[in-house]
This record gives sequence, C-alpha cells and structure tokens, in this order.
Amino acid sequence: MHFLNHIFLIVFICFSYTKCVDISVKDLKVEYLVNPLAVDVAEPRLQWTLEATDPQKHSLSQKAYQILVSSDEQSLAKNVGNLWDTGKVASDLTNHIHYKGKTLNAGQIVYWKVKVWDQEDKESTFSTVAYWGKGLNTWTGQWIGAPNGLQHEAQKQLKDIDQKVVQSHQGLLPVLYMRKQYSTPSTTKVKSAILYATAQGVYKVWINNMLVSDQKMNPGWTDFRKTINYQSYDVTNLITGKDTAISVLLGTGWYSGYIGFSRQYKLYGADQSLLVELHVQYEDNTTAVIKSDNTWKVSTGSILYSDMLHGQLSYENLEPKNWRFLNFDDSKWAQVVARPTDKNVALVADSGVPIRVTQEIKPIAKWQSKPGIWVFDFGQNSVGWIRLKKPAGAQTRVQLRYAEVLNPDGSIYTLNLRSALATDTYVFTDSSENTVEPDFTFHGYRYVEISGYPGEPQLTDLTARVIHSDTPLKSRLETSNPLVNKLISNIRWGQRSNFISVPTDCPQRDERLGWMGDAEIFVHTASYNGDVAAFYTKWMRDVVDGQSAEGGFSDVAPRMVDPADGAPAWGDAGVIVPYTVYKMFGDLQMVSNHYEPMNKWMTYIGSQNPDYMWTKRLNNNFGDWLQVNADTPKEVMNTAYYGYDALLMSRMAAALNRPEDVKKYTDLHQNIANAFNKAFVNSTDGRIKGDTQTGYVIALAFELLPEKLRPLAANHLADNIKAHNWHLTTGFIGVGYLCPTLTQFGHHDVAYKLLLQETYPSWGYSINNNATTIWERWDGWTKEKGFQNPGMNSFNHYSLGSVGRWLWQSVAGIDNNGNGVAFKDILISPKPGANLYNLTASYHSINGQIDNSWVTNGTHIKFNALIPVNTRATIDVTFIRNETVHSNVGSGSYQFIGELNKHYDQVINELIF
Ligand code: BGC
Repeated sequence: MHFLNHIFLIVFICFSYTKCVDISVKDLKVEYLVNPLAVDVAEPRLQWTLEATDPQKHSLSQKAYQILVSSDEQSLAKNVGNLWDTGKVASDLTNHIHYKGKTLNAGQIVYWKVKVWDQEDKESTFSTVAYWGKGLNTWTGQWIGAPNGLQHEAQKQLKDIDQKVVQSHQGLLPVLYMRKQYSTPSTTKVKSAILYATAQGVYKVWINNMLVSDQKMNPGWTDFRKTINYQSYDVTNLITGKDTAISVLLGTGWYSGYIGFSRQYKLYGADQSLLVELHVQYEDNTTAVIKSDNTWKVSTGSILYSDMLHGQLSYENLEPKNWRFLNFDDSKWAQVVARPTDKNVALVADSGVPIRVTQEIKPIAKWQSKPGIWVFDFGQNSVGWIRLKKPAGAQTRVQLRYAEVLNPDGSIYTLNLRSALATDTYVFTDSSENTVEPDFTFHGYRYVEISGYPGEPQLTDLTARVIHSDTPLKSRLETSNPLVNKLISNIRWGQRSNFISVPTDCPQRDERLGWMGDAEIFVHTASYNGDVAAFYTKWMRDVVDGQSAEGGFSDVAPRMVDPADGAPAWGDAGVIVPYTVYKMFGDLQMVSNHYEPMNKWMTYIGSQNPDYMWTKRLNNNFGDWLQVNADTPKEVMNTAYYGYDALLMSRMAAALNRPEDVKKYTDLHQNIANAFNKAFVNSTDGRIKGDTQTGYVIALAFELLPEKLRPLAANHLADNIKAHNWHLTTGFIGVGYLCPTLTQFGHHDVAYKLLLQETYPSWGYSINNNATTIWERWDGWTKEKGFQNPGMNSFNHYSLGSVGRWLWQSVAGIDNNGNGVAFKDILISPKPGANLYNLTASYHSINGQIDNSWVTNGTHIKFNALIPVNTRATIDVTFIRNETVHSNVGSGSYQFIGELNKHYDQVINELIF
C-alpha cells in the first residue's frame, strides 16, 4: 500500500471509531482499594487515574466520564450497566465519585468500568473491568473459642525453662487450632465462594490446606470494645470437590496478648475467639453458608505461644500431622464453645490496608559473640521476622533473639526492648520441612542472635521477612547527595516499620502504640511517601472510638494505656489527621464523617479555657517531647496548638460549606492569636516567651503572629539556629514545622544547613552513626555517652522524620497550590540549593503522577516537570535567571534550562561544607 494510503487509513479509523484519544484510564479503585470484596459504606467512592499516551502533548483533560456498573461481567462486556449507568456526565472529577446506582445486596459482587471524553470531546476506550463487593449486613455464624482448661493443658507439656517464661508471662496462651469439614449438598460446580472472617485475636485460614491469603496479622488492631474489622477473601478456586476442610490458626494478637507497656495483656478479653462465614454460590444458583458454630473442633498444637511482644515458642513434636487436610481425624479434638455476640461491638468491613510481607532481606555478615552463639547482621533495621532453614538432624532447640543495635563486643543489645522478649524458639524433632517462621509475632530489628543451631549457620539459612500495612509506597525522591538519600530512606523505613495496622510510635519494645502526637506530626510526610488514605481512614475510626464522653481524644488510638484524655499536640491528631488527608487526597468525606467528633474536641478544650489560653485539660502535657535543652514553655506550645486546631477547623468548615462555623472558628483562631500575643509575644521585637526554636516555628506556622512581627520572629528563629552553630534544638513537635517555616519566611538556606548538618543534634549525626531508620532521640547513641537511657531509646521511631514533607514540598517543590487539595491545582516550586546537583522526584498523587527533576553544575540548571493529565499547575522557575512564574499551565512535560540566579548560586556555594 502506498504511504499516503496508510495515513488515510489511520485517519479513517480514528474518525470512524473516534478512539484516537490521548488519554487512557487506569487504576480503578473503590474506597481507595483495588477490588475490595467487602465494602460497608452506603455509597462507596469510585476513582481512576488518567494517563497521557504521549507526555509531549499538553493540556489534556477530562471533560466527561461514563461509569457502568453491572451485576455480572457478561452484561458489562456488552456495555450494559444494569446497576448503574451514569451516561455521559460532564465533569472533570476522577475520584471521590459516590456510587448512586441500585441498592446492592449483602455479599453481592459488582463489576464496573469507566470511559472518559477529553477536552476535545474525543472518547477513550473503556478501562479494564474492576469490581467490588458489598459487605455483610448480618452474621449468622457464631463466635467460637476453646473450652476452659484446654490451653492450660497444653502448657503442662513445656520444659522447665519454657514453663518459667509462661508462668512469669501469664498472658502467653497457646495458639488454637480449629477445623471444620463439610460436604456440599450440591453436586454442581462452585461459581463463587467468599470467605468472611474475623477474630478476637489474630488468625490464618486454610481451605483444603491452601492458605486463603498472603495477609498477615488479621484482623489487625481496632478498639475491640467498640469495633472489630472483618476481612473477605475470594476462595472460589480453593473449593474443588464435594468435601471441604476449613482450618484456622488463632493467636492472641492485640486482643488478649501482650501489648503496650510491660504488664498489659488480656486487655480486651481473656482469650481468643473466631467468627467465620463461607458463602458459596454454585453454578446451578443454589447457595450454601458454612459458618463457625459449636460443631467445629479445637485443639492446641506445636505453637505454645505466639505473642507480639515476646515472640513464638514451637515444639515441633506437638504438631497434629496433616491437620489441615481433608479427612484428618479430629475425633479426639475438643468441641469448641460458642460465645455470645456482643451487640455493642460493630462488625465492620476492613477499610484499611492489609499487612503483608513486602520484601525479603538476606544477611550481610555474621560472627560469633560467644562460642556457638552467632549474630547475623541484615544491614537494615526493619520489622517482621526470620524465616529459618531448619537444621539437619533432629532434637535441636534453636533460639533467635532480635535486636536493633549491638554492644561494643559485638553481642546484641536488648536493654532498650524493655520487657519485650522478642525471641523465637523452635524445638525441632525432625527435618521434614525446609523452613520455619513464626505465625503471630513481629520484631523490630537489624541483628539476630541465633543459638542452638547445630554446626555453623550460613548466611543463606536466614531470611528477614519484612512486613507492614501494604500501603502502596510508589513515590520516589532521590538526589545526588548520599546523606540526603539516606535520610529519605530512613524516613521511608520508619514509615514502613510503624505502619502495622495502626500508626505506631515504635515497633520493637514493649510499647508499639498508636501514639497520636507521633501520628499528627508525620501524617503529611507519610502522605507524600505513599497512598495512605485507606490506612488513615481505618485509623480515624480507632481515634473516634477512643473519644471520651466529654469530647477528649486520647493520647493513643486505639485508646488503652492511660485513662487520661489526650495531651496538647497528641489529642489534636483528631483534627490534624483528617485535615491532612483532606488536603493531600481531597477526602471531604473523612472531614464530614468526623466533623462532630472534631467539634466536640474543640468544645472540650474551649469549655475549660474561656480565656483562649490552653491551660486546663492538659492531661499528660508532654510538651515538645525530646527537645534538646530548649524546653518551650508548655503554655506557649499548648495555646499555639489550640490556635492551630481552630485554624484547621475554619478551613474544614469552609470546605463543607458551613459559613457559620467558618466564622466561629476564624474568630476563635483570632481570639487565641490575640491571647497568645498578649501573653507571650513582645509586640515590638517579636520575641516569644521561652525564646526557643519550636516557639517561633509554631507561632509562625500556625498563623498566630501579626504580619509585622513575622519577619522578626523568623529572624529570631534563624539567629537561634545560628547561635547553636547551625543546629536544631526542636523535639517531636517543633521538628515537623521547622524547615517548612524557615523556607516560608525566607530562610531556606538555613533549612538546608540543618538538612546537611552532620554533628549532634542532626539527622546527619544519626546517619553517620549507622542509622538505617529514624531514631526516637537525637542522642539515641553518641560517641561521648554511648546509648541513651534504655528506658526509652528506640532506633525506629518515625517522628523526627517529619522533615520528609519539606523535602517534597520545598526542595523537590511539589505541593498543592494555595487552597488547592489533592494536587488538582499543583504548585511546582523547587528550590535547588546546597550540593544537590541532581534531584528526581516522582509523587503519585490521587490525581496522577507528578515528576520533577533537575540537574545542575552549580551555575546552570536543567529542570523538568511532568504535570498529570486533567490537572493544572503553577510552575515557579524563578531560580533561573530571567525566568518567571508560569501560572495555570496544563498537563504535559515542561523543560527549563538556564543560569541559576544569584541567590541560588550563593546558596549552593555557601553550603558546600
Ligand atoms: C512514645 C512516644 C510518645 C510519647 C509520649 C513515648 O513512650 O514512644 O513516641 O509520643 O511516649 O510523649
């Protein structure tokens, strides 16, 4: 065919099918999740992302969409939406679109797809098909547990040494083994089978010896007194014949195992229970529900305990052989006991993100700390456990102890774990299986000590299995500076390690709690690192479950340790987290769902502090936790936080279109600011009581100072840092706002100095001393003093890593523009400086992927930006001589090349240490 004919043909096809659109529709999600099988919310929110087929094309957008939802895939394939057909909706929305179709039945699975029209009204193809399921409205299964005494019977078989552990740790109960075998009444094939399951404890389920999922530690941790999450699994392929065996391992978990400080166990109940329903639909359309009831059997087995803080103990010879297979003889097993359902506890489809093994790490070195005692170094502090290759031969007792750091003699240092034993012990009797790993525990560690292993264990015998709530962590930020890259890596590891069902303070010692102060200071950074919206959606329910009758949020969520309500900056997470999730993901539903609890918190503070100073209802009143000899007066910090709450409430009220509340909270913010200024601020020179970095930072960041005092206060802040020889002195609270505030008020060079500082106290100091995660304290270990007080010295706390947000916003320069949310209106405003000769940043926002990168030799720079389809951006490239701010540009890739202007030139030269 002639060349021109080719062109003609292509043009003809384009016209005839109107498919030559430059956009494709990807990543369909429901309530932030990929194909969730149980969604409880009445009108689930649908979302997708758009991708340009050619990034060189600019200003692509979505002018309209059409969503089809069908009860079966066949109808959908014919483009029939028998449950919902939106028709062509003129809208540029791609997320938070509520399903408004026919009411769905409990357990129903529905299929959906979407197509869009671009700015020229060209139509895309339909996306691939996605699905979601409606959760269960009612349960007919019964809670089942072990009869009295069964677990204690098992413990009698322990050796002396283990008896002692169990006796001194009374909560250490054996893992329960439960099973049920049934025959199907129907002879036809299974069309679909969904398993719904949950526990007061933690569980794993097998069907016909096949594990139903790779999810770990389900059902996770909630305030079990009020809410229990259930999970759902597609098990269609596991049910093959007429007979089916369901087998369950049931551990104590957060429900009745050890959590929090040393002696806390059985916090929610004496021992574990299970609730299961298997819904099967056959091809002849008959259905069956197999559920937990008093016909199930229960026993104990090889796992004498598997406790989150203390680890696991297994006696291999106690394992009932083949118990998960069909036709296992369970006649000697006990009958389970059915337990009453507590009507006050809500059973809720899990809206969070499952915990999974997301990585495996092999050790990089090993040595003997004593003859026969081997220490393995994995090179990275992480969370999870060891998968161990079983030693050859029988009758061995192998013990693994986990630790974050080492003593000077190369042995493991475990004092900072406090009472957490963090030990996995296996008593092997044969060598039939290749590897072993614990079931319901996790440890925070870099080093593992192994004893009792016959011969010399090899590096290949141990594998670190890394777990965390598997929030997609797609965003990437990298520079030419190894120190900055290590900081970024440490922040990410801090996040991964502490996102275990709830956002925790630390993953290793006897604590691991959902500390609210830590959460509020890190939520912004976390939201840059990955898609954490579902994770926080789940957690906000824990927060609200923990609110006291008077309106006090707690210090930790799920609430448990301390009956006191939350301290300033800790309880405030109840306001700051929804606001941040709204800002980063556009989640107005989270704001409206929790608006009343937030209001109540404001009243809780306001009712006892009528003079607008937060001096009452301070509860644990932690202050700027772990600051460095620079204690910000608590009344300053607390009142500033009250002001910040009011500011955020006024913004959220505006987003919800509640003008009266906008006024109420704007006035409140102003009144608090007035009181703050009157009591603490020198109205001529802008000095703030206490004269600390944190004091200046929060007064500026929370918009409490009159305009004329702001530059003065910012100068005091910069001077204070200079007076400390370019060191920070902030604790948990100040650190989160420190660099952003410096940049905002014209001291970006000072922020860079802090970033690149390598002497104590600084991030660089920890990195130069082998940190692979963020430390709890600036001086977790120092050359002069060695380890800090072991009573509180975690090497894997994310709080001081809250600087991550500034790296994204102000160094890489990816932010929301002004009042914008969810990166629909983007501000690209990078600030090259220091010795960052290259930077590449890729942020996966809910509205698409934003890429920034630069390369500079210190005098000239090349800067690239990629703006996602269907968004607008303001690109500030004034760091390039004779360049300007490009307002409101459309999608596509942009490149700017030129000479750095003088200011940045200077920054770069000054800061090469
Ligand atoms: C935790 C912190 C927490 C603090 C309260 C500590 O034990 O580890 O991260 O915020 O207590 O001040």
